[in-house]
Parts: sequence; structure tokens; C-alpha cells
Amino acid sequence: LSRGPKFQSQSFAYLTIKDRMPQILTKAIDTLHRHKSEFFEKHGEEGVEAEKKAISLLSKLRNELQTDKPIILLVDKCVDTDIWNQYLEYQQSLLSESDGKPRWFFSSWLFVECYMYRRIHEAIIQSPPIHDFDVFKESKDENFFESQESIAMLCSYLQQLPRPLKDLEENQLKDELFKLLQVSLWGNKCDLSLSGGESSSQKTNVISSLEDLKPFIIVNDMECLWSLLSKCKKTSEKAAVVRVDIVLDNSGFELITDLILADFLLSSELATEIHFHGKMIPWFVSDVTVHDFNWTIEQVKHSNHELMSTCGVNWENYIKIGRWIYHDHIFWTLPHSYCAMPQVASDLYAELQKACLIFFKGDLNYRKLAGDRKWGFTVPFHQALSGFHPAPLCSIRTLKAELQVGLRPGQAEQLMASEPTWLTTGKFGVFQFDGPL
Ligand code: F6P
Ligand code: MG
Repeated sequence: LSRGPKFQSQSFAYLTIKDRMPQILTKAIDTLHRHKSEFFEKHGEEGVEAEKKAISLLSKLRNELQTDKPIILLVDKCVDTDIWNQYLEYQQSLLSESDGKPRWFFSSWLFVECYMYRRIHEAIIQSPPIHDFDVFKESKDENFFESQESIAMLCSYLQQLPRPLKDLEENQLKDELFKLLQVSLWGNKCDLSLSGGESSSQKTNVISSLEDLKPFIIVNDMECLWSLLSKCKKTSEKAAVVRVDIVLDNSGFELITDLILADFLLSSELATEIHFHGKMIPWFVSDVTVHDFNWTIEQVKHSNHELMSTCGVNWENYIKIGRWIYHDHIFWTLPHSYCAMPQVASDLYAELQKACLIFFKGDLNYRKLAGDRKWGFTVPFHQALSGFHPAPLCSIRTLKAELQVGLRPGQAEQLMASEPTWLTTGKFGVFQFDGPL
């Protein structure tokens, strides 16, 4: 999308690398500063020294980025270090002699962005005893607390649906499914990477805004999801398992919308098992790690709001009885496109193949599904997946990057004319499905 001299000086990719990424690094440095006394209380002088070290590594990283230095190899010794360094060498091999080394402003956007988050992780793990500090945790938690009211409303909505959900009349079931799918879609507006780590919480009642937001869904394959899930439900009366996987994106309000959807799928018996996929390291500011996942469920459970706390108790129980299963895998924090999954992470691919349906939440997942290439807007989604078809899948994403496929002829031009920033503000969204029904 954003290679070298062809670089469009005003592209979103360029602005991200020039402005948004340094801003995220500055915020991470500031967070470490503010936790100095906490590190001292926990670890004494050693904690203060570690904070200084992490800050100096992050400042060096910010300087490399801002002065467009070559991208250097990772020096830590993690499970993914070799894969990262091989990928870097591969990036180098794409350049000719005269191009020199891959640099921050002369490499693919997706690659350098992922690389920055991996280097943040490297800076922290090289600074024991604060090696498991998550520089983004505070903003993620803030997003949750600031969205409390909307979260309570959503939990109440779910709890007050006529029970048992499985006995809802077909049309009503479909209607509720569509509502909660849309809630999960618009939940994706609340990521903290787009806002440079600044608050991006949900303060209104989403359910009542759904009708007004409908015109902003530019690809809407929800009917396919209904056909698939209701077909699976019918056959599941014989088969034991209907598995739905959710490749999670952001913590905070968005995660709640995903958990609400997951709860609905189980309680309506449209699915019998939900598998969540999260990140192994802090990623793109707000992405869900196992700590965020568990923390969120705990918070919901201990809420003073009765219906919210009922949700938390149910969610904890789903985990206990093995109907909600959380997975993480290093592949999700590598720079590779998803079409490389069978080669790079065959175990994960095999796991995803067990699903009846996979939801991919958010913008970054979309970019990786489509390989972040400069596809034409009308190229079919199936083609842009470049062979990645582990199971029927659906991207649920608000648009925050200059990439969109599967539009009708003329649709992109129309959008461009009425809303020139349609690709990058998160105002528009898609339910884009691929797979046999
Ligand atoms: O900063 C770039 C980016 O990948 C954008 O495409 C998007 O704004 C954000 O990071 C991640 O968004 P999401 O949380 O929806 O994956
Ligand atoms: Mg994200």
C-alpha cells in the first residue's frame, strides 16, 4: 500500500507512520514514567533502573522511526524471534542493491506497523523485573470504565430477551442475531490505535442507534450468516458440536460486544461452542490479551449492576464448563498475511478448520486477510483471500485503512464523492462473508 517513492504524501499509511506511530510511542514512554513509583514500591531500585532502560529503548525506537533508519533485526530470544528475523530478511530480499536496507518509510505499512509493536514488546521484556508490564493496559481499562453505562445497557438488553432464547420464533431469532451482530460491528469503532491511544469509548445506547447506522454498512452479508447458522443448528440436532470461532480485536467496549454476541449464540443454541482467539503480546494498543479477557469478565461479574453481573457469572461458567474456549497463538502477532498461515502456523490453521464459522473482528484482521494489497474495490473477497479458506468466514470490520474489496461497480466512486474519507474514519462498516453456505 505504501511502498517507497510511490508513497502518497497524504496517504493514511504515511500519516500513520509519520504522526500516529510516534504519538503511540510517546504515550507508552509517558505511561512508564508515570508508573515509576509503582515499580519502586514493587521492585525497589531495580524497578527504577528497569523503567529507565525500557524508556531508553523506546526513545531509541522512536528516533529510528522518525529519522527513517533501517529496520534492524530483533535481539530478544522469544519463540517468534527467528520467524520475525527471517521475515525481515525476506523484506530485504525484495529490494534491489541500490535500494539498500528496508527502512521505516520505505517498507510496507503493515510490516512496519507490526514491527513497531513487536519492538515495544522487545523493549519491555529486556527490562526485568518489569518485563511483563503492558504499556497499553491503562488505556484499555479506561476504555472499559468509560463505556460502563453502554455495557450495562447491553447486558440488560441480553438478559431481558424473552427466554429461553432457543424457543424464539425464527424471525425474532434472526432479528436479534442481526442486532447483536451490528452491535459487535460498531463496537469496532472503539479501537485505541486509531485515536493514538486517546480515549475512544462508547457512551450512547448502541441498540437504539442501529437503524440510523444501517446506511453505513457498505457490504452486508448478514443473510449468509443466518443461512449458515440456521442450517448448522438444524444439522446439529444430530451432530454434537456447532463451533463458532471469534478472532478478537479490541479490549474495552468492543470485547463486551463480542462476548454478548457469543453469549447469544450459545443461549439461542445457534452454536454449542465458542472459541476466542486473542494476542500473546500487547498489540495495536487495544487488542485483547488473555489478561484483558480474564480481567474484563471479572469486572463484569463484580459489577454493582445486577444484570451486568449476571452476564459475568454466566460467562465465567461458560469458561468453566468448556463452552467458551480462549486460545492464543504467536501467529496473530506476526506480520504475515493470513494466506501464509498453513505454512507458518499449520497447527492454528488446522484448529480453525474445525469451525463452522469464523468471525474476524476489526480492521487489522481485514488487512491481513486481504494481504494489505492495493486491490481494486470490485475484486471479489474470495480472490483477495488468496487461498485462505480454513472454514466459512466473515469479516466484521469498520473501515480504518485504504483497503476494501468486494464492492459493487461504481459503489466506491459514489462513496468517494459523498465522503472523501470513507476508507479511514471508521464511519463505514462491512459484514463480508466467504465460504460455501
Ligand atoms: O493504525 C493502523 C491500523 O491498522 C488501522 O488500520 C486501524 O486504525 C488500527 O490500526 C487497527 O484497527 P482495529 O483495531 O480495528 O484492527
Ligand atoms: Mg485493534
